[in-house]
Amino acid sequence: MPVITNIDDLKKIYARRAPKMFYDYAESGSWSEQTFRENTSDFDQIYLRQRVALDMTGRTTATKMIGQDVSMPVGLAPVGLTGMQCADGEIKAARAAEKFGVPFTLSTMSICSIEDVAENTTKPFWMQVYTLKDDDFMQRLFDRAKDAKCSAAMITVDLQLLGQRHKDLKNGLSAPPKLTVKSVANMMTKVQWGLGMLGTRRRFFGNIVGHAKGVSDPSSLSTWTSEAFDQALNWDRIREFRKMWDGPLIIKGIMDPRDAREALNVGADAIIVSNHGGRQLDGAISAIRALPAIMDAVGDKIEVHLDSGIRSGQDVLKAMAMGASGTYIGRAFVYGLGAMGEEGVTRALECIHKELDSSMGLCGRTDVGKLDRDILMIPNGFAGDWE
Ligand SMILES: Cc1cc2nc3c(=O)[nH]c(=O)nc-3n(C[C@H](O)[C@H](O)[C@H](O)COP(=O)(O)O)c2cc1C
Repeated sequence: MPVITNIDDLKKIYARRAPKMFYDYAESGSWSEQTFRENTSDFDQIYLRQRVALDMTGRTTATKMIGQDVSMPVGLAPVGLTGMQCADGEIKAARAAEKFGVPFTLSTMSICSIEDVAENTTKPFWMQVYTLKDDDFMQRLFDRAKDAKCSAAMITVDLQLLGQRHKDLKNGLSAPPKLTVKSVANMMTKVQWGLGMLGTRRRFFGNIVGHAKGVSDPSSLSTWTSEAFDQALNWDRIREFRKMWDGPLIIKGIMDPRDAREALNVGADAIIVSNHGGRQLDGAISAIRALPAIMDAVGDKIEVHLDSGIRSGQDVLKAMAMGASGTYIGRAFVYGLGAMGEEGVTRALECIHKELDSSMGLCGRTDVGKLDRDILMIPNGFAGDWE
């Protein structure tokens, strides 16, 4: 077993083991990738305040997200095509999350279906739902989530149309992968991945194939997006979705205080400050930079979570100290999954947990639920004074 000390170690193994098409799919942002890059580099601009001779025993990273117990405030974000990074990837990631005591969120665009994940796990997971035109499909998605005992729904509102990722177009990304000379030559070098894929029947979009009407080619992400996604989306429509689901609701993809207030009015239980990991609006500011203004606008009225750019426990600590009450990792768990399957996701969670716990202690704090900005040194103007 290789020695894994941080998320980057997993990423290096993942790069060797996953087919190029799926590595590129995860490791890309839209257009110039400015927002993708700044999501991570902006965390480095915030410093942690070292304190000494403060009792750091009895530390806890346990807290609650939307009223549910978590062993640390780090959920697994919804990631489409997870089951292409590694055979049965969603089931493996969900199992690692449930053993670790953190939420797993299943993407609408997953390979394993809602029912598949429910049958192969023991604890409730969360279901992510895109905002689609087809009301019947939407209602059925919520109903299927309810039947599968999902304990929260997450509506992603930042994908009315798909941000362009150049590499996906060049690679001809699809599920299952299209067999071209280039893609086959590359996949033949990924023996472990290939054997896993040969051994599973889960190779299509499990929540869509056989469930969505009138979608001609669900293997292609861009075709499905342009046909099914609702460019006319507005807050009244999101209110209708709220009525379709009577459990806890999280609204994902908020970057502006005005939208945060709208989400609050819709009756969400939490919002996620997120720019989709830099995959949608390129040129948007990083999520961590957007957080302070949103905290000021709604932080005392609703739970504010954050994703986009988290690669370490120190990043989690910074987001929590800035007022977030939960965070999510997308790529960080995908690296683990593509590197070593379920074990790799566990390793990713362990790395982040250890970093969070130790760094919190070195800041002189013992409870992740009771952090504040005093442990941070934030440069003047970090949150921006925009025209
Ligand atoms: C490969 C990939 C696929 C994604 N698919 C979805 C999805 O299906 N639904 C969704 O709401 N967000 C999706 N996201 C966005 C993630 O939920 C999350 O916002 C993002 O990964 C956070 O940034 P990070 O990867 O830097 O942690 C995806 C992200 C990646 C990297």
